[in-house]
Amino acid sequence: MDLPKNARFSTVCIHAGQVPDPSTGAIITPIYQTSTYVQDELGHHKGYEYARTQNPTRAALEANVAAIEGGVLAYAFASGMAAIGAIASALQSGDHVVVTDNTYGGTFRLFDKVLTKFGLDFSYVDTSCPEEIERAMRRQTKMLFVETPTNPVLRLTDIRKVADLAHARGARLVVDNTFASPAVQRPIELGADLVIHSTTKYLNGHSDSVGGIVVAARHEDAEWLKFVQNAAGAILGPFDSWLVLRGTKTLTLRMAQHNANGMALAEFLSTHPRVRSVIYPGLPSHPQHELARRQMRGFGGMLSFDVGTFEEARRVCNSVRLMSLAESLGGVETLICHPATMTHASVPAEHRASIGLTDSLVRISAGVEDAQDLIDDLAQALA
Ligand SMILES: Cc1ncc(COP(=O)(O)O)c(C=O)c1O
Repeated sequence: MDLPKNARFSTVCIHAGQVPDPSTGAIITPIYQTSTYVQDELGHHKGYEYARTQNPTRAALEANVAAIEGGVLAYAFASGMAAIGAIASALQSGDHVVVTDNTYGGTFRLFDKVLTKFGLDFSYVDTSCPEEIERAMRRQTKMLFVETPTNPVLRLTDIRKVADLAHARGARLVVDNTFASPAVQRPIELGADLVIHSTTKYLNGHSDSVGGIVVAARHEDAEWLKFVQNAAGAILGPFDSWLVLRGTKTLTLRMAQHNANGMALAEFLSTHPRVRSVIYPGLPSHPQHELARRQMRGFGGMLSFDVGTFEEARRVCNSVRLMSLAESLGGVETLICHPATMTHASVPAEHRASIGLTDSLVRISAGVEDAQDLIDDLAQALA
């Protein structure tokens, strides 16, 4: 199988980095569940010496995701947080990072509680306003770390604009593309230097693996990632690599349905009398709908809505039947959650308030079920 140079997105998802297994012809890359590799003679091996350093299943996934995101190389880690930690390890003590204020709670926790101990400094700003980024940048700013759309208030950052801003000051732009997935948004095309994913979410897509991956736009950044993947050792295991590879093959199909269901639920909720407001980039009422149309292909499967009080939010979360009350997102089954007490409980209350994450906000990760069944479930939960 030769992948044409001009292959389109869904073809790349299925074929990039995939070659039939050289020993059997198996079309699917096998799970190379091994810790070491036998060498032919001293100094002669087949490119594999020890499985922390190299594993063919992981390598196939890394080549696949690098191509999907339009980067040069990718490195897979044991979780999304391990991937973010690997990126941060390229910084030196005294360096400063500007971060989206509404970043994932675990990212905030890693930066605020762990990395500040090593002399790194972080400023949290609303990266949807480039002026705020400019104001926060200093001589020591080496990285701009952006999440778009954010979780759970779905604020967008103009990737092209902030890439120019970061580069003008000699800083790297890192985009956490977990929420959109590369089927919806490709940050490297818009100027990002590094893209990270929690593969736990849309890339795997079946809620049965935890992992992370970093894609580099340039070889100079890839070198450090390769080094630290082996040196720190937080690698993605062969079975998880295989699961994510299985997931990326259907990414285009799944995202089309996630997008359609996200839109259907957002439209239903925005007409419901018990719902105060709905946040979804695909709705014309979203303050950055125009940017979403420019930057995204489809608007994703994540939406949030405000039901007025914490009690009402609790009632809705406890009343769904088809949807499951759970953290996480991006799987084929629809999940509902209460960010203030679940995914974002580690974010201080005043920080949550400042970004509009109220106690009455409910978040949905729309799965790929029939949209009408999801609407019926929400209708009975709200009733
Ligand atoms: C946007 C985002 N980035 C990173 C992470 C961390 O990923 P993981 O849970 O795989 O460590 C998450 C987890 O929910 C996330 O939502």
